[in-house]
Amino acid sequence: MDTKSSAFTVRPAQRMTVRPAQRMTELPAQFFAALVRKANEQIALGHDVINLGQGNPDQPTPPRIVRALQEAAENPLYHKYPPFSGFAFLKEAIARRYKLDYGVTLDPETEVAILFGGKTGLVEISQCLLDPGDVCLVPDPGYPDYWSGVSLAGASMAFMPLREDNGFLPDYTRLTPSELTRAKLMFVNYPNNPTAAAAPLSFYEDTVRFAEKHGIVVASDFAYGAIGFDGRKPVSFLQAAGAKDVGVEYYTMSKTYNMAGWRVGFALGNREVIRLLNLMQDHYYCSLFGGIQAAAAAALTGPQDSVDTLRAMYERRRNALFGALTGIGWQAKPSEGSFFAWLPVPKGYTSAELADRLLLEAKVVVAPGIGFGDNGEGYVRLGLLAPEARLEEAVARIGKLGLF
Ligand SMILES: Cc1ncc(COP(=O)(O)O)c(C=O)c1O
Repeated sequence: MDTKSSAFTVRPAQRMTVRPAQRMTELPAQFFAALVRKANEQIALGHDVINLGQGNPDQPTPPRIVRALQEAAENPLYHKYPPFSGFAFLKEAIARRYKLDYGVTLDPETEVAILFGGKTGLVEISQCLLDPGDVCLVPDPGYPDYWSGVSLAGASMAFMPLREDNGFLPDYTRLTPSELTRAKLMFVNYPNNPTAAAAPLSFYEDTVRFAEKHGIVVASDFAYGAIGFDGRKPVSFLQAAGAKDVGVEYYTMSKTYNMAGWRVGFALGNREVIRLLNLMQDHYYCSLFGGIQAAAAAALTGPQDSVDTLRAMYERRRNALFGALTGIGWQAKPSEGSFFAWLPVPKGYTSAELADRLLLEAKVVVAPGIGFGDNGEGYVRLGLLAPEARLEEAVARIGKLGLF
């Protein structure tokens, strides 16, 4: 066969310019792409870089879950298209877990949507609920994917500052009448990325009252629901009375079971929101590979000791990190949950300047707070995503710069 004429011929320059839709040009910039590039440059130069800048769990998926996928892969049932909104057994498994862990009752058929990871559903909900002119209330600092959905929906954001003196909780009394009238959706996220703060039940009770009064749908992002420290189990939004009337909670397998690469998440709660998410997904997908659904169900229904072990591991890492930070004089509020630490930047630096200096001179990658919103300025985020000795080594290197 003459391959030259097909794969290897030089094609003439393209004559037609592809014109992207406006929504593609308006998407928020991927702030952290530059960080990854700079870190990779240092690695390519041969430096021993300690990367605490990202949020990717460093441990493997527990073996029993991997085995469940291996077995399921051989089941011809899963080689066919799965049911549109996913298998009933997986919805039943997450509903049972919520009952056991939080005492929350969910109807698997109408109050559970299976998602391609939490991120997908967090982006979809804006498209389900918002039109141009509508407002979404977004925490600042906050997880940048909330912005993506709002942008794709052509709606706008009103930022809710999360301040240290308010426990990194939003203060709803500061929203303006115009924001409150136009708002149709809001995101809350505890244990919080990036501030590592936890929220008490009273916060969710206030949130339910606030949302009901103003007709705003709540999206509670519970991605770090399994990771709470100092004996305090994180509270679910759905534990607040009336929560299902006003919103949904997002849960993901990514952090609790180290399944970030498997892409399995859930939206749970308000029937109408679940119906809309499922409707949107009917147009995009035909649910997840059945084998992955079977393994996710096995993860949720089997013994949960791997979850306890993981939580304890992050707590040991948190203790090691904060112990070392105290040793070099870097004062910060210890993380209450999640696998992050949120540290104030020393005087004379922006968060980006500090991150650059730590990378170039200590070979430690941290995420500058400004990447999470204007109110993230003045902080950097470190991930508890390396063994204790490596975290201590990172802090020791930073200590040598004499910043504190
Ligand atoms: C706050 C928060 N929400 C949601 C997610 C999405 O997780 P996934 O899409 O893996 O379910 C992440 C992941 O980093 C996160 O940090």
